[in-house]
Parts: sequence; structure tokens; C-alpha cells
Amino acid sequence: MHTWTARLIEIWEENGARVGLLECPADHRPSAGRCLLGAAREGPPPVLPHLLFPGGLLPEGLVLAPGLPLSWQPGIELALRGPFGSGFHLPPKARHVLLAAPQHSPRRLLPLIPLALAQRSEVTLVCHPDFLAALSHPLPPLVEAIPPEALPEALDWADYLAADCPAGLPHLLTEWRGSGQALISVPMPCGNLADCGACAVNTRGGWKLACKDGPVFDLRDLA
Ligand code: FES
Repeated sequence: MHTWTARLIEIWEENGARVGLLECPADHRPSAGRCLLGAAREGPPPVLPHLLFPGGLLPEGLVLAPGLPLSWQPGIELALRGPFGSGFHLPPKARHVLLAAPQHSPRRLLPLIPLALAQRSEVTLVCHPDFLAALSHPLPPLVEAIPPEALPEALDWADYLAADCPAGLPHLLTEWRGSGQALISVPMPCGNLADCGACAVNTRGGWKLACKDGPVFDLRDLA
């Protein structure tokens, strides 16, 4: 885990949510599903630092997934800590990779796309058309995007599923018996620094800490 300072280069909106581009050294970048804690260096300190997830990579820096605070503006310096937690682990043998963000922005799943294409997997993204149209950069042509209604059929096709459903996992996904992982959205105020317990997630193996054991969990572990 690192602590460092970096500049937020750019901010834009995708379907009403603020997305940013952060200067970020290669060895400080969180992998898909892992996170950073960030706070503005200047001005009154926030009550809690903000949780930041990778949402893609551009030549200029790391794309931060939607949810940046309104007080942040382009050029602001951020104090950062991370990466922490456990992210997605794409099985090297997966050939049919299904990324499912049926209810909101797929940004937090997008960092998996170059990994899947590099291992010659086919990739399908389940996403509402409004969120798809709002992405600042188009998906690679090899990625098929389908609407949420097509999720049941896509599950028959997939041999690995990565899900991001902040409002709760649909039964369709919790009951799926294939290889899969889900990013669980919970507050992580201390980022595994003070054992606050605010990020506890109930799993089949008991309570686990999202900031340490997650926030990405195996689907079969989720109660
Ligand atoms: S955020 Fe405090 S223990 Fe996980």
C-alpha cells in the first residue's frame, strides 16, 4: 500500500455522475475491483476520505469510476492511499467472460476488458443502454454489449462472470453456479487502517471485511 499525492487532470459527466482522470504512477494503480482512498489536500479536511475505483486506463492517467464529489475540480491535488482490498481475478482459462452491470454504470468492470481480450477471451457486457451511451470512449469493437433483459441468456453462455450491482445482487446472479465474482458496494471509511468494521460483509464463511477480503467476493461465498 502506498500514500502519495496526485493531480486530478480532468473531470466529466457520464449519465449525470462525475468521472475523473487522475495522474497515477503505474505501480500505484489499483487493478480492477481494488480501490484507493482520496481527499483534497487543500481546504477543510473531509469527514471521511472518498472511495475511488479504477474505471479504465488512458495514456494520460487512470480513469476514476463515477462518484467524484462536487467539490473536486480539475487540477486539484489529492492525497491518496492504496491500492487496498482484493479485486477481480480473471481465470486464465475463461473463454466466455460476462461483465454484468445491469443497474448502473459499467465503469468499475471496464478495466477487465483489456485483460480478457489479451487472453483471447470473448467478452460480453450487460449494461443499460443509457449508461453505455454515456461512456466517454467507445468499447473495443470485439466487446459485445447487450441490455439487462438479455442477462439470462448470457449466463448460459458465460464461463466466468464479473458483476457490479450496487443496489444488491439479483437472484439470477446469486443462484448462478458458474465461476463468478461480485464487487460489493459498502462504505470503507478506514481502508483497513483502524479495524472500524464498517465494511463488514456477511458471507457463507462468516463476516468478512470488504477493505481486506473484498470488496470483490466469490459469488458462491455471498450469503
Ligand atoms: S473500512 Fe474499516 S475495517 Fe474495513
